[in-house]
Amino acid sequence: MPIVSPSILSANFANLQADIEMLNESVADWMHVDVMDGVFVPNISFGFPVMKAIQPIAKKPLDVHLMIVNPEKYVERFKMAGADFLTVHYEACKDLKKVVDQIHANGMKAGVSINPETPANVLNDILPFVDLVLIMSVHPGFGGQKFIPETISKIQEVRSMIKARGLRVLIEVDGGIGLQNVEEVTAAGADAVVAGASVFTSENPKETLKKLKVTL
Ligand code: DX5
Ligand code: ZN
Repeated sequence: MPIVSPSILSANFANLQADIEMLNESVADWMHVDVMDGVFVPNISFGFPVMKAIQPIAKKPLDVHLMIVNPEKYVERFKMAGADFLTVHYEACKDLKKVVDQIHANGMKAGVSINPETPANVLNDILPFVDLVLIMSVHPGFGGQKFIPETISKIQEVRSMIKARGLRVLIEVDGGIGLQNVEEVTAAGADAVVAGASVFTSENPKETLKKLKVTL
């Protein structure tokens, strides 16, 4: 069964509390929090004030996905805002190892994410030091996009890299995941799946979350 991390990017921002409470009561394992700066990606989502509002009511770990440049400037503040997992983009870091160490020093799990056009082998050096690899299966910036099918072989590749080196690193996959492909993504080697639009636009989000977990 995959770890399911619904993305609140598709939640109702005019009544976020209701959606957070729905997720609290659901089978969701984590809550995926997408932070966008309008520079690393062509969109702006939300930042610290929204996270601080979520923190006291969320009963699941906050899985924070930073789509921002210079993430090293804000590591401590994301800890203060409630992040449990803090994932930065390979493409956005000048010194990735340093940022990963900084995340650990602040008591969070560290993740590294790669864009669809970034090959898996860029992860070679950092792999032993991270807790999680976040493989983007859409171009980051927007919810509700179509899953890029080439991601499947990248998941398999990262899975074999981790296995060959005997590491304990979780693979999370993000973008365009729903009931139609969760099985394929999990079978390819994903431990965790992010789901935004497929959960929040469904008639019964709690049921959809249940189905996402038990497809295999
Ligand atoms: C995209 C974000 C995703 C997004 C996923 O840039 O990183 O987490 O919210 O949404 P869906 O599941 O709708 O593709
Ligand atoms: Zn994300």
